[in-house]
Amino acid sequence: MPKWCPATIVAKRIWTDGLFTITVDAPDVLPFAPGQFLQLCVTDGDERINRPYSVASPSGKHLEFFIVLVKEGQLTPKLWALEKGDVLQVAERATGSFTLQKSPSSEVLWLVSTGTGLAPYISMLRTNEPWDNYQNICVVHGARRATDLAYTEELRGYEQQYPGRFKLIQALTREEHSEALFGRIPSLLDDGQLEVAAECQLRADNSTVLLCGNPAMLDDMEEKLGNRNLKRHRSKSPGQIVLERYW
Ligand SMILES: Cc1cc2nc3c(=O)[nH]c(=O)nc-3n(C[C@H](O)[C@H](O)[C@H](O)COP(=O)(O)OP(=O)(O)OC[C@H]3O[C@@H](n4cnc5c(N)ncnc54)[C@H](O)[C@@H]3O)c2cc1C
Ligand SMILES: NC(=O)c1ccc[n+]([C@@H]2O[C@H](COP(=O)([O-])OP(=O)(O)OC[C@H]3O[C@@H](n4cnc5c(N)ncnc54)[C@H](OP(=O)(O)O)[C@@H]3O)[C@@H](O)[C@H]2O)c1
Repeated sequence: MPKWCPATIVAKRIWTDGLFTITVDAPDVLPFAPGQFLQLCVTDGDERINRPYSVASPSGKHLEFFIVLVKEGQLTPKLWALEKGDVLQVAERATGSFTLQKSPSSEVLWLVSTGTGLAPYISMLRTNEPWDNYQNICVVHGARRATDLAYTEELRGYEQQYPGRFKLIQALTREEHSEALFGRIPSLLDDGQLEVAAECQLRADNSTVLLCGNPAMLDDMEEKLGNRNLKRHRSKSPGQIVLERYW
């Protein structure tokens, strides 16, 4: 069991019904690397309910978590009900190897996500690490509807801040929108739309691909990327793909 620390909610941002970011003051949490996750815990009588969450902010006193309400879930209805000033428990130590430090270097970094799988990339992009180590960065975010496209303003800001080096590509599956592609990410890779939008090629010799979120997207992408000779990166057998499975 982790050692638990108190975390006080200092802000709650609702992006759309059931999709939210909580910011907590958790000064006892130990330093961590962007991309790592922490356990969040709520007690219900004698019972502790805890689940892992990617931290959506860099290491610091205030930590952000980007969460979706799974209505039939055990923990998220309790997290959704929390308000500013409420206290929950957070593990003292973050874990996980979904970090840039454990990812191979390359010219282009693809940060691919569905839903709240965007969270670890927000943490990474707020540090110098990706900007110092990759020439081009493409964030690909897949969601059902336009209202699910959280963090757009911050991400579009990087396009202004790093002209020619950063692209945000959003893809919707359940409605069309002028600012987004329409379709699931693996199909958009297959038919070439992703690379056209990114103005970058995705090849084994120029790209590192991080995948985070829905496990079906991870599996489909790994297969499509395999057709292009990209493979999972492991310390003893280097590749190009690094992934974080949310369930
Ligand atoms: C390493 C890691 C990091 C994670 N980081 C995040 C995060 O930053 N934000 C976040 O919202 N969740 C994240 N999750 C998922 C999270 O741990 C919980 O599984 C989720 O919040 C549901 O908890 P629950 O108790 O309400 O539902 P449970 O009773 O545990 O039900 C789980 C079911 O909910 C669905 N589900 C779980 N997570 C998601 C999700 N993110 N999006 C869509 N459907 C989902 C799946 O169908 C899954 O089988 C992460 C999981 C892992 C393993
Ligand atoms: N606004 C919200 O996001 C919201 C609010 C409240 C509650 N919820 C609940 O939260 C849960 C999860 O919702 P979510 O939309 O965040 O997560 P999700 O179901 O993982 O969907 C996110 C995106 O991933 C896509 N996807 C699914 N399988 C894929 C695959 N094999 N390859 C590529 N893309 C794939 C989905 O496309 P498809 O549309 O084609 O499946 C969708 O665009 C649901 O129970 C939902 O009811 C969501």
